[in-house]
Amino acid sequence: MKLLVVCLGNICRSPMAEGALQARLAASPLSGRVQVDSAGTGGWHAGEPPDRRAIACARGHGVDIAGQRARQLHAADFEAFDWILCADRANVRDVLRFAPAARRERVALLLEWAGIRAGGEVPDPYTGGPEDFQRVWRLVDSAAQAVVARLAAG
Ligand code: 4NP
Repeated sequence: MKLLVVCLGNICRSPMAEGALQARLAASPLSGRVQVDSAGTGGWHAGEPPDRRAIACARGHGVDIAGQRARQLHAADFEAFDWILCADRANVRDVLRFAPAARRERVALLLEWAGIRAGGEVPDPYTGGPEDFQRVWRLVDSAAQAVVARLAAG
């Protein structure tokens, strides 16, 4: 199983979600059986580490995401990943613009796919403060726990 988390810049929400998922998976019976990566619909930050506020927030929860590097979503991702899980509806719309017809049903909202909130979005914290990053962490870590429970249940 291969999961790709997508947001706009790949420096805030999706790196935090990638870190939360990897940490929750590593601590579960699924360890080593699910691969997780992240990407942005935009490429402005390609090659950069996550936003320093995202790094600090994740570190505060015991997860090191400083080694991640941003990249833009590319066509091969639609074949390489089983699911493309988006932070918000704008990301879903942008990803679907590039999705081959046969892969459209494999594009979903992260929170909805995790089963924690139908139509739920992870709000962009980029222009916000530390509390907005904490909110993102709570959402993506809740999603990560739900995903692990869902996949572990088969
Ligand atoms: P992200 O946040 O999509 O959660 O990584 C953003 C990062 C950068 C920008 C927007 C959102 N930006 O406009 O550069």
